[in-house]
Amino acid sequence: MDRLNGPARLMIVSDLDQTMVDHDDPENLSLLRFNALWEAYYRQDSLLVFSTGRSRISYKQLRNEKPLLTPDVTIMSVGTEIAYGESMVPDYDWEQFLDHNWDRDIVNQETAKFPQLIPQSDKNQRPHKVSFFLEKAESLEVIKALSECLEKRGLDVKIIYSNGTALDVLPKGAGKGQALAYLLKKFKADGRVPLNTLVCGDSGNDAELFIVPEVYGVMVSNAQEELLQWHEENVKGNPHILRSTERCASGIVQAIEKFTLGPNVSPRDIRDFRKCRVNIFSPGHEVVKFYLFYERWRCAEVEKSDQLMQSLKSSFYLLGTFVHPSGIEQPLNKCMDMMERLYGDKLGKKYRVWLDWVSAAQIDLNSWLVKFDKWESTGETRQCCLTTVLLTTKQAEEPEAFTWMHIHQTWLDGLEAKDQTTWFF
Ligand code: GLC
Ligand code: MG
Repeated sequence: MDRLNGPARLMIVSDLDQTMVDHDDPENLSLLRFNALWEAYYRQDSLLVFSTGRSRISYKQLRNEKPLLTPDVTIMSVGTEIAYGESMVPDYDWEQFLDHNWDRDIVNQETAKFPQLIPQSDKNQRPHKVSFFLEKAESLEVIKALSECLEKRGLDVKIIYSNGTALDVLPKGAGKGQALAYLLKKFKADGRVPLNTLVCGDSGNDAELFIVPEVYGVMVSNAQEELLQWHEENVKGNPHILRSTERCASGIVQAIEKFTLGPNVSPRDIRDFRKCRVNIFSPGHEVVKFYLFYERWRCAEVEKSDQLMQSLKSSFYLLGTFVHPSGIEQPLNKCMDMMERLYGDKLGKKYRVWLDWVSAAQIDLNSWLVKFDKWESTGETRQCCLTTVLLTTKQAEEPEAFTWMHIHQTWLDGLEAKDQTTWFF
């Protein structure tokens, strides 16, 4: 959170399963569209928050399977656990607060009286979250009877039904909405309330996100019946809530447009950057744009023309150096020749490139040091390099063109490429 020194321009608070991540899209197209948009235009001055029902372990599993960006804040286990930054430092104050009037043993004793409640696996049971499966047809009746039992035992709990299958029992002060309100309160105390907040969800445990004061919301087109019904009964007609016509992450992009929260055309939707000059001059946009071109070049999704190669070469300082993650140094002109030869080598191989955690530091009037994680996946295998690029502007008076002076890469642990000869940049 301390990455920004002022209030965030936009804070996106998004659920993961079937909101940020579309499990029906094995190619992850909408997620990759969102990623490129975020890293090109928002990462530098905005905050990304994931709010998931998953525990830390199962969140990490999802990160290994899907091209998820690194969020600034991770809210897990249905708003009962909050962690900050890349290293996910836990917020113990929040967990301590949730202890108030909470007794897991009593919850276990009372829920055991309902044979309709089938306990979820151990990895889904958390200190402040007791979770079950429950048939939709029985849900209303069981929820009513269970709340009466727990109330009689003097507990303040919240019971949430999601995805037409899952029932969570949490302390009353927990939940995704309460966790967000807590976060906003912390920002307020620091005088750093985000200028805009957009919450995004698809199922029952996301409902309370939409009643946090002063937020915009999007219910993605594939939202579950229980969320739509809750919306119908509670917040229908609220102009700050959109029911998108697009699925998952594409629905989030649609909401950014609808509420005019900032740039909403993902660089992935721009086929030819020469024809569509985006009027945003930023190092983040520059690196995202280059790596998209790189992906398309290797997949032969752009034409192979001398003119294109020349124009690319003109944005590199050909005597500059590329330090390959293996440690070997090469002049950039040699890398350009190599890139030329690799045209189409990934054709039909489900090859994707995405950048995460892009940051840029201006080091003088004309130069920037840009740092990011560069990911590649070919089918199921993935590699990642911590990458540093030195960019300069050609002339101070023509500041829409960058020159790539120097590139340096280091493998991230366990994510080295087996065949290092076709990894570069
Ligand atoms: C996630 C969690 C599960 C929970 C459900 C609904 O799927 O893994 O434990 O019940 O979200 O909140
Ligand atoms: Mg979901």
